[in-house]
Amino acid sequence: MQYLLISLLLSFGFAVNFSEDISPIVYQNCTTCHRSGEIASFLPLTNFSEVYNNRNWIAYAIAGDDSRHGNPIMPPWPPDNTYSALIGERSLSEVEIHTILDWVDEGAPQGNPNLEFPMPDFPEGSAIGEPDVVLSLEEPYFIEGNNQDDYRCFIIETNFSEDKDIAAIEIYPGNRVAVHHAILVATPAGSADALDELDSGPGYECFGGFGTPNISDILGGYAPGMIVSPFPSGLAQNIPANSDLIIQLHYAPLNTDEIDQTTVNIFFRDEPVERYVQEEIMYPWQLVFPPNELTTISESWNISNDISLIQFFPHSHMLGKSWEIYAETPDNSIIPIIRINEWDFDWQSFYSPEYMLHIPSGSTITANCVYDNTSDNPNNPNDPPEWVFFGEGTNDEMFFVPYRYVNYQVGDEYIYLGTEESLTGDVNGDGDLNVLDVVSLVGFILNGEFDSSADVNEDGLINVLDVVSLVNIILS
Ligand code: HEC
Repeated sequence: MQYLLISLLLSFGFAVNFSEDISPIVYQNCTTCHRSGEIASFLPLTNFSEVYNNRNWIAYAIAGDDSRHGNPIMPPWPPDNTYSALIGERSLSEVEIHTILDWVDEGAPQGNPNLEFPMPDFPEGSAIGEPDVVLSLEEPYFIEGNNQDDYRCFIIETNFSEDKDIAAIEIYPGNRVAVHHAILVATPAGSADALDELDSGPGYECFGGFGTPNISDILGGYAPGMIVSPFPSGLAQNIPANSDLIIQLHYAPLNTDEIDQTTVNIFFRDEPVERYVQEEIMYPWQLVFPPNELTTISESWNISNDISLIQFFPHSHMLGKSWEIYAETPDNSIIPIIRINEWDFDWQSFYSPEYMLHIPSGSTITANCVYDNTSDNPNNPNDPPEWVFFGEGTNDEMFFVPYRYVNYQVGDEYIYLGTEESLTGDVNGDGDLNVLDVVSLVGFILNGEFDSSADVNEDGLINVLDVVSLVNIILS
């Protein structure tokens, strides 16, 4: 129905063109990764001719079906956004997808180049501000272009002589083509030195874990496109005095030699800390996966005091197929936390709900992961399938879910966990308020779809009153 509406608008002289209609969508949803030096530099999308020359590939990636990255393939966002609302969600709306497809169908005209959307200022060094301390790998690390995964742990000395409260830790890859993801913990100074000395070259090989049991809560993580959100005020994690940091870096298979020297941006919490962020980890090790079978592993966590969830990070290896995590309250209502319909080892992240998620005492949080040890799984490391057990190697399996939470306080459910609220009324997310937002909003109404950006008057409903509010905002 909304396509009809668009077609109607089009027939009134709104011909889709690159400058006015396509460049805002691509520059704001794709170019952050699709430009030189970034993870998708093989396909830069930074001007008309790059987008024009790849238009059919783009159309396939945003609308087509693919077993690896779900449907659609791009932009990559494994969680199911109809299940729960998470910070930093990457997706195109139906209207945006159809605007691009219509543009391709109509011969992909450029339009007036002066009207092109300005290229966003992509941040350098940090996406969230001026760090208090920047630490980095002691020396540059050489990654051989041998098409092999390389999992490496590096020790970084903090030389902090006192305990430090942390508002955020941002891992900033030195080489975004090479670094696929990273995870960071603290350990008492010197406790991993022996591992480092046993392994030649900087750092030591590690997969899944850190090779030493004496580690802190997880302090930071990096995955492509992930935005770090500082903890809301009053909340912090702590790095004890005299700690080393250990960063595990996953360098993806490459066919060119690369050099990396990743940095760690540390943002201190200067105001008094009211609540320290706590961690609970689901980490069963009795895992057995018979060949040619689907196996579901289920873990639960009984909540004995009211908590507010802040972040969670589901993790499995190559047999992982899907995840679902939810809470069931004492009155049997379900609080959806996250669902990933097609688990993808290449796209992992700490996920945050949009607002602190209150889980009442007496609830149970359940996480289910389905593992596919059949030959239908294109990522199955064994052909034909074999018995697979718990372990940290790529060909072993894991079920690992750290949660970050604090004890609940009244009002937590109104504390937004993202870095910025989007512009009210900017339903299509193009940074502008105009008639296209009305078109997008009408699309949501006709589809019966809920999206917080379309709830312009913030009454929890999407209906004609939002259109009235939006028109008022645009006209004012
Ligand atoms: C978070 C980073 C990121 C964002 C955002 C992103 N891409 Fe990609 N894209 C990648 C990476 C990495 C690959 C290659 C590896 C893969 O397919 O996983 C890729 C692959 C592609 C491909 C090739 C797909 C294939 O499998 O043949 C196309 C086309 C593409 N992207 C277009 C887009 C478009 C259009 C957008 C915006 C709507 C977008 N991408 C947003 C990272 C990104």
